[in-house]
Order: sequence, then C-alpha cells, then structure tokens
Amino acid sequence: MRALVLVGFMGAGKTSVGRALSTQLGWRFEDLDDRVQAREGRTVPEIFRDAGEAEFRRAEHAALRELLAEAENGPPLILALGGGAFIQAENAALVKGFETPTVFLDAPPEELWRRCTADPVARPLRRDQREFRDLYDLRKPRYQQAQLCIQTGSRTVGEVVNEILESLSLRGAAPGKER
Ligand code: S3P
Repeated sequence: MRALVLVGFMGAGKTSVGRALSTQLGWRFEDLDDRVQAREGRTVPEIFRDAGEAEFRRAEHAALRELLAEAENGPPLILALGGGAFIQAENAALVKGFETPTVFLDAPPEELWRRCTADPVARPLRRDQREFRDLYDLRKPRYQQAQLCIQTGSRTVGEVVNEILESLSLRGAAPGKER
C-alpha cells in the first residue's frame, strides 16, 4: 500500500483524521489544499477570488499529480483531498488508477455545516446553509465511489481512526508496512 486517500465534503474531518492516522501508522501526511497553496504561493480563497474556481481546479489537479508521484517513489502517504477534488472525474480516475484505498468520511450535512462554521479555515464554497446542503447532496454519490465509507457524525477522531485501521487491516502496521 503506497497511500491512503481521504475524501468527503467540507468539514468531514479529512485533515484531522489524516493527521491522526499518520501518527498511528508513522506514514507521511499531506493535505492537497496545503500543497496547492504552496505551489501557487497564495491561499485557496485568494485563488478563488483572483482567478476563479476553474483555475483552482487546474492547480488542484496538478498538485494531486505531484503528490501521487511522490507516493509512487517515496514512503507511504496519507492524503487528504479537498472537498471538491474527488468530484472532478480526472482526479477520481487518477486516484483509482493508483490502486490505493479511498476512504469517504461522511456526516449529516447539518453537522458538516456546524463544524465548518466553527472552523477558522476560510472556505469559498461555504456560503449559505441551503446551498451547502444542495452541494453535499449533489456530490455524495461521487464520494460513495470510495472503497470505504465511514460515518463520523458524533464520533471522535480516535474512533474514526480505529474504524479505518480495523476495516483496512492496518492495525499494528509498522511504518511503511501493512499487515
Ligand atoms: C472545496 C473544499 C475545500 C477547498 C476548497 C474547495 C470544495 O477543502 O479545497 O475551498 O470544493 O468542497 P476542504 O474540504 O478541506 O474544506
């Protein structure tokens, strides 16, 4: 296993769960949005504001390619995608072609909204609650193409991490190894 990819809507906990998984497994953690920002030299909201969503998606695709190439040639990677990344067909195809487990972190949209509202991270696509919910409904079938679907509603990060480790038989895996 060269990587484990976390997908799901805004507020699903991809970054928190990814960091905790990385600690448990001793694998490297990468957040796709962070890589986009580092490559572009500006924040996600700045890219949306100055160049628009299409430009953000182009940058996101390039960053995903770069990270998967690193996982191919380097130590195994936990990769948290941004909420829209797996929705783009070319990204989903890239990840599927990589033959790595994909995990969909899900929660009721009301809880996702609450988490995002409490989070200091600025999200250009979190505008009003109704639109947020509609976007969630639209995207959900795409997220469900992930190999594993984990409910995170009212659960701690530790509980979610345990379920992922159990489901993928990764409990006790040493860094870079799987059981
Ligand atoms: C987006 C989600 C964000 C970020 C960008 C677009 C989306 O990531 O990539 O604001 O399209 O849902 P998070 O899911 O980490 O908030």
